[in-house]
Amino acid sequence: MPSAMQQLGFDEAAFRARTTEDIVVGQEIIRHRLSSRLIHWSVAISFFLCLFTGLPVWSPVFGWIGNLVGGLSVCRVLHPMFGILFAAAALVMFFHWAKEMTLTAKERGWIGPRLFAYLRDAENHAEIGKYNGGQKVFFYTSALAGLGLLLSGIVMWYPTSFPHWLHQTAIVLHSFTFVLFAVSIVFHIYLATTAEPGTFNAMTRGTVSKAWARIHHPKWYREILGLEKRS
Ligand code: HEM
Repeated sequence: MPSAMQQLGFDEAAFRARTTEDIVVGQEIIRHRLSSRLIHWSVAISFFLCLFTGLPVWSPVFGWIGNLVGGLSVCRVLHPMFGILFAAAALVMFFHWAKEMTLTAKERGWIGPRLFAYLRDAENHAEIGKYNGGQKVFFYTSALAGLGLLLSGIVMWYPTSFPHWLHQTAIVLHSFTFVLFAVSIVFHIYLATTAEPGTFNAMTRGTVSKAWARIHHPKWYREILGLEKRS
């Protein structure tokens, strides 16, 4: 039955999602409170700022992007600054979500040779909580990639302050980490938008439908609805 607030046309779910999460409001479940969403979008926006100022410096193929931002020399100045911004936002995100992202004994199978078996089985898994093993692994690899990009980036920023071999290693590490990270981000965006309709809403409005939760995160759904004790 709709609450008094809903009968008055008040968007109770969006309002409560400003400060609360993991509760049911009408037919929706609040998945990400406002602070989580702001942190996530700070990471995503700073990532794209790094991408658009870094690609033209990386290869002349992307020189046209540099022209849009004001030229190659502007990109060279802005890129390290956006890099610091990205690293700072990623650090905040890491501590914000670290507790919820602890891998259970079963989910550790996502790391290693059983990865593909886990990927195939993911949708049939009744024990998936708020985040599945793949999401948790993405969370940790993002943190690791952020750290790798930051450290190698600092060495590249001050080329004369470090030994030549370290500078050369940093260039390779920066490019290698970037390529792997960019591929995982493409998958992340695909999964968070077209592959699983309703997921994007979780990061904009903060809510998902009960059906979405039951299909994709059945254990979390049972816990939120009080059908099972929260772990
Ligand atoms: C346009 C770009 C992006 C979109 C549309 C997007 C969308 C989303 C959505 C909808 C979720 C919530 C998933 C859920 O609740 O199950 C999410 C979670 C997350 N996002 Fe993004 N995201 C983007 C960029 C990024 C970037 C650049 C990073 C960089 C590290 C990132 C890191 C994460 C992490 C760690 C999570 C939590 C784990 C997960 O759900 O996979 N996102 N994102």
